Amino acid sequence: MADEEFVVTPYEVRGHIDYDRLREMFGTQELTPELLARIHHLAGGELHPLLTRGIYYSHRDLAATLDGFANGRPFFVYSGRGPSGPLHTSHLLQFDLCQWFQRKFGVRMTIQITDDEKFWSRGGLSREETVRWGLENLYDILAVGFDPKRTQVFFDSRSIAALYPLAIRVARKIPYSTVKAVFGLEPSANIGWIFYTALQTVPAFWPSWAEGHDVPCLIPCGIDQDPHFRMTRDIAEGLGYPKPALLHSKMVPGLLGPDVVMSTTNAADNALFLNDPPTVVEKKIRQAFTGGRTTVEEQRRLGAVPEICSVWAQWRTRFAESDAKFEQVTRDCRSGALLCGDCKGELIERVHRFYAAHAVAREKAKDWAESAIVTAAPKAL
Ligand code: TRP
Repeated sequence: MADEEFVVTPYEVRGHIDYDRLREMFGTQELTPELLARIHHLAGGELHPLLTRGIYYSHRDLAATLDGFANGRPFFVYSGRGPSGPLHTSHLLQFDLCQWFQRKFGVRMTIQITDDEKFWSRGGLSREETVRWGLENLYDILAVGFDPKRTQVFFDSRSIAALYPLAIRVARKIPYSTVKAVFGLEPSANIGWIFYTALQTVPAFWPSWAEGHDVPCLIPCGIDQDPHFRMTRDIAEGLGYPKPALLHSKMVPGLLGPDVVMSTTNAADNALFLNDPPTVVEKKIRQAFTGGRTTVEEQRRLGAVPEICSVWAQWRTRFAESDAKFEQVTRDCRSGALLCGDCKGELIERVHRFYAAHAVAREKAKDWAESAIVTAAPKAL
């Protein structure tokens, strides 16, 4: 594979991703300083770190959604998770941003748990496993701090009666040739997988359908999910619903660094899973790939390279709570003042603290998770 070659689809992410080129290939818009300033203003003078630090970097139709909001037309946020195993810290990014929108803009949240998708697209998983992971993942997601009064969940296999009347109409608008071209599915792909994208579209239209008037939708997601929603947007008008707006994030690099080929034996070491005990967290961070030099002397003299460092990526996406802290870590790394061992030690402590707080929030989320799952269609249409 040539250096500049990369692949990004909902079912495969591979190679060194050139994010500007990806944006051009996908035809999305740049998240500009002007747009960020407008979000800052509408949020009452605050911006989420994921927005200020360049993790979210691309969008579709965000400006129109913000205009609508400013003119009294609230949007809702929608994101989801395909439950193939435990969540890791980077899986929470899209939900962190959604929760921030809910808190700052007072908007509603829709979460989709696609146990069906993972059963169809991952041959090795049983139905019981995808359902079990779906519930486990849901508790972790709700623990991010969603408001029970303004949050609804579609858990596909359990919410199908609520989704299906709309899925029927969505599915008729999507030609098989489009699915094949967009997702690159093999001829041997099972037909569940082929149909699945219709179900990922449904939540984007669901409130408009249920309420009988346009309810704009904003979807924060990894840019790998854009192909699904390009289709959603293409068919929206034909069904009489507003096109959802999108906010795309970059993919967070794994702990083992860009050049390690993933296999089933090392994949577990590549991320901090939320069910990892403290000793495992510590081991993973201690062995994580950094941008450090080979000797202490060299590092003091030349400084390290944060941009390629997987530990810096963790500071950047979650564990530097303030911009001042983030800038300090970055500056001291680059200057050689901060050595990798010390940086890792400090990160380990923060991760432990986060896990402890998360565990408490997760237990509380179990009290209302069931009641958030939508099981009935709004009308018999
Ligand atoms: N397909 C996504 C995954 O594999 C799950 C998902 C469903 C999703 N609906 C979504 C992701 C909306 C982002 C936004 O994880």
